[in-house]
Amino acid sequence: MQAKIHVTPDGVLSKIDDRLFSSFVEHMGRAVYTGIYEPGHPTADPDGFREDVRELVRPLGLAYIRYPGGNFVSGYNWRDGIGDKDKRPVRRDLAWFALEPNQVGVNEFVTWCRSVGSEPMMAVNLGTGTAKDAAELLEYCNVEGGTELSDLRRSHGYEKPHGIKLWCLGNEMDGPWQICGKTAEEYGRLAHETAKMMKWMDETVELVACGSSHRQMPTFGSWERTVLRHCYEDVEYLSLHSYYKDLDKDPYSFLSCGEQMDGFIKEVAQICREVKGELGSSKDIYLSFDEWNVWYHFRMDKQDPEKWIVARPIEEEEYNFLDALAVGCLINTLINNADTVKIACLAQLVNVLAPIMTVPGGPAWVETTYWPFLHACRYGRGDALSVEIGSPSYECSYGTVPYLSAAAVLSKSGDLVTLFLVNRNLEEDLRLQLDGLRGDITEWHTLEGFGLYDINTPESQKIAPSTRGACDISDITLPKASWNVIRVKLK
Ligand code: AHR
Repeated sequence: MQAKIHVTPDGVLSKIDDRLFSSFVEHMGRAVYTGIYEPGHPTADPDGFREDVRELVRPLGLAYIRYPGGNFVSGYNWRDGIGDKDKRPVRRDLAWFALEPNQVGVNEFVTWCRSVGSEPMMAVNLGTGTAKDAAELLEYCNVEGGTELSDLRRSHGYEKPHGIKLWCLGNEMDGPWQICGKTAEEYGRLAHETAKMMKWMDETVELVACGSSHRQMPTFGSWERTVLRHCYEDVEYLSLHSYYKDLDKDPYSFLSCGEQMDGFIKEVAQICREVKGELGSSKDIYLSFDEWNVWYHFRMDKQDPEKWIVARPIEEEEYNFLDALAVGCLINTLINNADTVKIACLAQLVNVLAPIMTVPGGPAWVETTYWPFLHACRYGRGDALSVEIGSPSYECSYGTVPYLSAAAVLSKSGDLVTLFLVNRNLEEDLRLQLDGLRGDITEWHTLEGFGLYDINTPESQKIAPSTRGACDISDITLPKASWNVIRVKLK
């Protein structure tokens, strides 16, 4: 089977915002407790954070890490997580039916986040919380000193302000599962008033308003319009969330997830343009795809763990090789929409729907999905190039889908083009004709040759990339069912 792509170094679609390579740590399951934080673990630092986890997070070079939720944030009082650890309250977390000991709060998280080279993307509680709570959290975090809350932070040992720039106005407020969910009218008004107070408190912050929880919500579209009509001028971004699944064991349909995500992005971007026109605004709203991933195995296979315990082990996915290919397709879609999507968070980072897993008291290890994400984080920075694909296609429940999924990035240095390619043909290799690029292939990383449903475990992480030997640019064959990162040094 043969396909071709046409890419040229001057065919720039958009600069890629580094924040496209971000992730998410929620107080959920074992993401925080026994995930990033486990005092007493052999690798724990004096603050209780696991160094072995850090060693797997750092190479990702994540721009931002979203925190503390997710659904958790809608019942969270940020004041519970500051001050002396032994005086902090233990509470029931009604989002995930766990006990929250509050041993990690905003100060500890910001310190950890920066220790892995990332910036925090904070969410404020707009479920049980108020505009005043949100503005006060911002005062605590970002005001230098001389006010009650900034001085309180200093008294907690954080002399310098945290300088947190990016904030989410709540989370999935349209969801009936959300603690104190809202109608679009209620949320739009609250987002507007909260944004006003937050920007008066610190005019440098950037804000993300909640879009629909996912494309299938009955209010999708009308929610975005109503919310934006209330707060268009107050926010910089609108959120999108989406998780993809292979419930029917129909891999070809599952691998159309990139096309599904593409359609969703384009619909939301169109709504933003329409509201802009309607309001006569001169400003553009960009998209924050702040939850994306594959999510489904856990719910199918596992019993619900005991409630009201700390570090309740929920949503610990076992990602297989097929899931890694799906993540590759989703990454390509994000890069190909870099003109509208400026922030994207793989949800999540550790233990919960995560590329990085831990054994309490034991090792940290990586799931299959770690690898395409690492490749994108490492090689996906620069300018997104337009890619014209000519590929045979297949029919699936989504419709007609090309076997080849592709994205191309011109490095910041301007002398390398990285191609991200998924051969979605699960039975046949794909010969690739590459038009428009002159140069030599200097690196080719691939995930290939595994069973679709093979997984990694703490004992064996056999699903890992291999490197292909030297190869001519005119002689590229993508193995069946494979993720490929091909780097071309331009002549
Ligand atoms: O990422 C897991 C959960 O998925 C988040 O808490 C919520 O926002 C979404 O429904």
